[in-house]
Amino acid sequence: MSSTRFDEITALCKRRGFVFQSSEIYGGLGATYDYGPLGVELKRNVREQWWRDMVYANKNIEGIDAAILMHPRVWEASGHVDAFHDPLIDDKASKRRYRADQLVEQHIDRLRSKGKTERADTVQKRFTEALNAEDMPKALHSLILSEEIRGPDSGAFDWTDVRQFNMMFETKVGALAGEDSSIYLRPETAQGIFVNFQNVLATSRVQIPFGIAQIGKAFRNEIVARQFIFRMREFEQMEMQYFVHPGTQLEAYELWRSRRWDWHVRNGIPASKLRWHVHEKPAHYADAAVDIQYEFPIGWQEIEGIHSRTDYDLSRHQEYSGKKMQIFDQASGSRFIPYVVETSAGLDRTVLMLLCEAYRKDVVEGRSRTVMAFAPSVAPIKVGVFPLLRKDGMPERARAITDALRREWNVFYDEKGSIGKRYRRMDEAGAPLCITIDRDTLEGEGVTVRNRDTLEQVRVADGQVPAFVSDAMRGAA
Ligand code: GAP
Repeated sequence: MSSTRFDEITALCKRRGFVFQSSEIYGGLGATYDYGPLGVELKRNVREQWWRDMVYANKNIEGIDAAILMHPRVWEASGHVDAFHDPLIDDKASKRRYRADQLVEQHIDRLRSKGKTERADTVQKRFTEALNAEDMPKALHSLILSEEIRGPDSGAFDWTDVRQFNMMFETKVGALAGEDSSIYLRPETAQGIFVNFQNVLATSRVQIPFGIAQIGKAFRNEIVARQFIFRMREFEQMEMQYFVHPGTQLEAYELWRSRRWDWHVRNGIPASKLRWHVHEKPAHYADAAVDIQYEFPIGWQEIEGIHSRTDYDLSRHQEYSGKKMQIFDQASGSRFIPYVVETSAGLDRTVLMLLCEAYRKDVVEGRSRTVMAFAPSVAPIKVGVFPLLRKDGMPERARAITDALRREWNVFYDEKGSIGKRYRRMDEAGAPLCITIDRDTLEGEGVTVRNRDTLEQVRVADGQVPAFVSDAMRGAA
């Protein structure tokens, strides 16, 4: 699925240095991307915001940073070796590959958007049955055929069978490449948390209920990967596992559902562009699961999952490692394995959502402009500073202001081109403020500060600039 708006955003990402295709000079590597100077700042800001709000703001949540490479038994215990599959189907006409379950979901969405609610409900019911069928690939295949779902790119109705495909990347460890040296690149960060559960408990002051948070890379051999940074083979997750008493997990699940929804809204995403998507068939480890979806220009898509993972992971690690995964309950004097509620957000997907939400075009003084209206907290550049002219001491004054602001903010100094062009450049980068030093500044009249969104220009005394910028970044100016 593509859209003009999405294509414009991806073009801007390359043009302005947010995101580049990985290894581009060699023709690129599918579904892998590099972040450029603006992208890396945007991503860092989101990462730091998540860490502040999940770890620093909650006294019962601790952070860790586990290794990407883990003992291969981890993935047997977690169920990923046996069950981390995608059901794939090929369109023989276009030679393109699709997720069979997503083809059906999109078909149901189309029926609903055409007002065919009864029919959509019937297909939905058959879809749930297919997902739970013993031979799920076969059941999905028959549903696609009986619903006459066509290839999204070719419009053809010429499908292969549905096949299951394990998505973990395998590699070899050590000098000798023997069978028992095979390991996996982690497909989720969560397992690093589970295997460190007792270490964190023993070394920090947390008591149940408590959480362990982590941000890090995950790897999946995504076959259907043509949606820019939405679906990548190497990506980052921001995950938190919340350990609770058995029987209280649904309460915790509701709590984290609402907290995570609110987090996205606080980052500037309108609630009208978010929705819940309840899993028809939760992953092998979950007893309840829901996604938060965002309305991307390519349609509604998942950005975060909230999963009630029961005691599945800890029980399995106890079984496979022989190590106790229980905690002692003072009240009853007994030991138990905690239940876990997980919040799992894609960092790159959150970045893509912010890029899509920020992107807009308007007309200023008869000329069209593209502007990235990021919230100040995530904006990659906070302030652009320009001397009006490259003479009469203006550059020196502008550099002095830049240096003063740089101690706290990412500031961009620019003296090239007309002022109009410099403003346009900062608008595309999403800088909330631009400061211009002109003749009046030299005569003690302060600097001009221009607001990216309102285009309002105010004069601020030189000495007040850091405080003015601080207020604006906190949303107080
Ligand atoms: N630990 C649970 C877990 O990994 P998931 O729903 O498979 O759950 C969580 O993934 C989040 O990770 C997703 O909501 C999405 O934001 C992100 N994610 C998953 N696969 C991705 C991919 N191939 N590229 C980018 N982000 C991805």
